Amino acid sequence: MNQRRITTGPMPVRICSPDQARRDALRRGACACIGAGLSAAGMGAAWANETASQRPVAGDRLVLAGGDEAPRPLAPSDVPLGAKPVQVFPFDAAGGVVRDGSRLNKVLLVRLDPAGLDPAVRSRAADGVLAFSAVCTHQGCDVSEWNEAERALLCFCHFSRFDPARLGQVIAGPATRSLPNLPLKVDSGLLTVAGAFSAAPGAKASG
Ligand code: FES
Repeated sequence: MNQRRITTGPMPVRICSPDQARRDALRRGACACIGAGLSAAGMGAAWANETASQRPVAGDRLVLAGGDEAPRPLAPSDVPLGAKPVQVFPFDAAGGVVRDGSRLNKVLLVRLDPAGLDPAVRSRAADGVLAFSAVCTHQGCDVSEWNEAERALLCFCHFSRFDPARLGQVIAGPATRSLPNLPLKVDSGLLTVAGAFSAAPGAKASG
């Protein structure tokens, strides 16, 4: 934790990280926080901004991109079987923060019949729901479309296609890298992130 101590008289005073400041604010003043002229509320806002840009972590829920002001975590049944992908962002439910501070956090949900998935793929799905980065690995456009005939994710910029049943492998370029996959599980009936992206999301010059 980024925390250190200074002495300003008889009582030591902690200078807290934004994360610590927020937790302290939630504990209603369990410690005195000072630093850079920011109030606890201001540091809490900084913490929220930082959290919104962090990549998804295990335990995050998923909420609709551009959805309601009160984010509603999705269940597997919210993703239609074999249909156009649903665009979502991870949601830090404990902190109440949607991780929409970076477009690299946008995720596509596709639901396939779990019986038709290889075990290695099924293990990263939640009731057949698979999650992928929504940012094309070619030049970074949004991957937003669905090719029904191939059951493939499609980027309209240069028509790369990716196979969700093979963990995002390229069916047709110019992209050369798979779409990063985000492992999911079901927890308390809700879609829940089970780990980190399989690779860094976004485009690379070589892709
Ligand atoms: S940016 Fe997606 S195919 Fe080029």
